[in-house]
Amino acid sequence: MSELLDLARSVAADAAEHVRALRPRGRVGVAGTKSSPTDLVTAIDRSCEELIRARILTARPDDAFVGEEGQDVAGTSGVEWIVDPIDGTVNFVYGIPRYAVSIAARRDGVDEIGVVVNIATGEAYEATAGGGAWRVDGHERTRLTGPPAAPVDQMLVATGFNYVPSVREHQAAAVGRMLPHVRDIRRIGAAALDLTDLAEGRLDAYVEQGLKPWDHAAGALIAREAGLVVTGPGGVPDERLVVAAPAASVEEFLALVERCRF
Ligand code: IPD
Repeated sequence: MSELLDLARSVAADAAEHVRALRPRGRVGVAGTKSSPTDLVTAIDRSCEELIRARILTARPDDAFVGEEGQDVAGTSGVEWIVDPIDGTVNFVYGIPRYAVSIAARRDGVDEIGVVVNIATGEAYEATAGGGAWRVDGHERTRLTGPPAAPVDQMLVATGFNYVPSVREHQAAAVGRMLPHVRDIRRIGAAALDLTDLAEGRLDAYVEQGLKPWDHAAGALIAREAGLVVTGPGGVPDERLVVAAPAASVEEFLALVERCRF
């Protein structure tokens, strides 16, 4: 496990440096769109994923690799890497300092390690299954323990929006139904950082529909290792729904999510 973590740490740091070095001042040019006209991709998303893929598969050629921007690679080792080279691409394009490299590895389908680096600020987060969640600042490591449990009417909740217009319409209605019942709602723009913010205790809960595994795999392990419950319709987060909250308030939050018809 520590071999996977060492590799993920080193690759995430290099990928973040690659993006910082290439990012021009002001707005970044858009290279194309994906699932809808609001789903942006830049040349730097693509080159960053290429760098990560090459580094990981050179070190571990038998592993599988799934990234947001490229073809999946099948493997034979039982280890699968799940990578978002820039989570928060729209923030990246506009220069809002909330975008991150997200790297997770699973062995035989079980999450083992997760690393998230906020590219703009350098904030780095990591977790190993059973080893806790950590904020890493050079040689200083701070254990993350999440927020205290709160009643839903005192929760600061983060969410996000899918890029498909019909899904967005549904999400906006659900968020509208939730807003009167919670302290407030944030749409920060990078799911990986929503989950590390939760692990840091900067938020109380999180709910989002339509996420892909690369958006939440690393952040979910970090949040879970910080003591949060990260769940979904079948007891695990999936594309239909990702919900995260402290163990003592997750049932109350899930009931609200259901009432709001997410
Ligand atoms: C997006 C971000 C955003 C979330 C979207 C994701 P991307 O990832 O995580 O916060 O609301 O659903 O697709 O496209 O910037 O990698």
